[in-house]
Amino acid sequence: MENNKIKWGIISTGWIAHKFATALQVAPDSELHAVGSRNIETAMEFASEYSIPKAYGSYEELVNDPDIDVIYIGSPHNLHLENTLLSLNHNKHVLCEKPMGVNLREERIMIDKAKEKNLFLMEALWSRFLPNIIKTKELIDSGEIGDVKLLTAFFSIKSENGPEHRHYNIDLCGGTILDTGIYNIFLSLLLLGKPKSFSAIAGLSDQGGDNSCSYTFRYDKDTLSVMYSSFLANPDVVAEIHGTKGKIFLGHLWFCPGNVKVTYNDGREKLHEFEVKANGYEYEAEEVARCIRDGKTQSDLWSWNDSIEMITMMDSIRKECGIVYPKHDL
Ligand SMILES: NC(=O)c1ccc[n+]([C@@H]2O[C@H](COP(=O)([O-])OP(=O)(O)OC[C@H]3O[C@@H](n4cnc5c(N)ncnc54)[C@H](OP(=O)(O)O)[C@@H]3O)[C@@H](O)[C@H]2O)c1
Repeated sequence: MENNKIKWGIISTGWIAHKFATALQVAPDSELHAVGSRNIETAMEFASEYSIPKAYGSYEELVNDPDIDVIYIGSPHNLHLENTLLSLNHNKHVLCEKPMGVNLREERIMIDKAKEKNLFLMEALWSRFLPNIIKTKELIDSGEIGDVKLLTAFFSIKSENGPEHRHYNIDLCGGTILDTGIYNIFLSLLLLGKPKSFSAIAGLSDQGGDNSCSYTFRYDKDTLSVMYSSFLANPDVVAEIHGTKGKIFLGHLWFCPGNVKVTYNDGREKLHEFEVKANGYEYEAEEVARCIRDGKTQSDLWSWNDSIEMITMMDSIRKECGIVYPKHDL
C-alpha cells in the first residue's frame, strides 16, 4: 500500500477485465499494478493499453507479485473458485466477478478460506454500488412509494455466440440464470428481501442450460416479483417497482449507471439524475479500497451473507428447472 494507494492485480484480459481496468483509472485510492493472462502477449498488450507496470503470462506469477494487495478476478464463472483460492492462498484480498461461485458449495469454500486467511473477499455485484440503485433502495426503505405490491425486472440480450461460448457451454456453467438473471434476483432480494416462495420455468438448450428463464417470487400477502432473463431476444431491459403511493422506473439497462424516475399516484414525477466518472465499475473498486483500508474482510453493502442468499436462490431456481452443472454440482 505504498503512496497509500491499494495496488490491484487483474486476472484475465476479457471483456469485463477491460471495463474494470478503465474504471480503475479514475478510482482515487487505487493503482493498477499488474495483469495476468494465460498468454504473455495478451497480458503485455493489455498492460500497454492501460499503462500497467507489470504483465505476467500466468495467473500463478501474478499472485506471487509481493506488491499486489488485491486481485480482481474476471475469468469465466467456472474458474472463479479456483482463481479465488489461488489468490487467497497467496495472501491477496479478492474482488471476484459475479457469480462469485457457481453454487452454494463453491461460495462456502471461498468464504471459509477468506475467513481462515483473514482476507477481504467480495462478489463484484457492481450494481449494488451504483448511485441509481442505492437511491432506489433508499426510496423503497423510506416508504416513498408506499408498500411495494409488484416488482418487475427483466434482463434479456440476444447472444449470437456459439454453443462453446460461456453463455451456452454447460461445462462453463452457461445459461442466463448466473449470467444475467442474477441481476433481477439481486434487485428483488435487495429491495424486498427473501421471498416466502417462488416458481420458475426455463427454456433449455440441447446442453441442458437455460436459454431463457422466468421466475416469480412471492412475498407477504399478495406482493410478487416477476422476472425473466433470456439469450434469445432483445426486449427493453427495464425494471419497475410499484407501490401503493407510486412507482419507480429504471430505464433500459437498469442494472447500469442511470436515472431513477418516480411517478406518484397524483401524477407528479421526480427524476433523480446521477453522474458517473468512468463506466460505473469504479464504485465497487472504491468500496473495496475503503474496506481494505478499514481492515474489513467483507463489505456491509454486499456481504458474504448477501452472496450466500443470492446463490441459494439461484441454486433453487436451477433445481426447479432441472439444470445441472455436471462438473460443479458434486
Ligand atoms: N459485472 C459485469 O457487468 C459483468 C459483465 C460481463 C461479464 N461479467 C462476468 O465476468 C466473467 C467473465 O466474463 P467476460 O464476458 O469478460 O468473458 P470473456 O470476455 O470470455 O473473458 C474471460 C477471460 O477469462 C480468461 N480465461 C481463463 N480461462 C479461460 C477459458 N478456459 N476460456 C475462456 N476464457 C478464459 C481469458 O483471459 P486470459 O486469456 O487473459 O487468461 C478471457 O479473456 C463472467 O463470470 C461474467 O459473469 C460481469
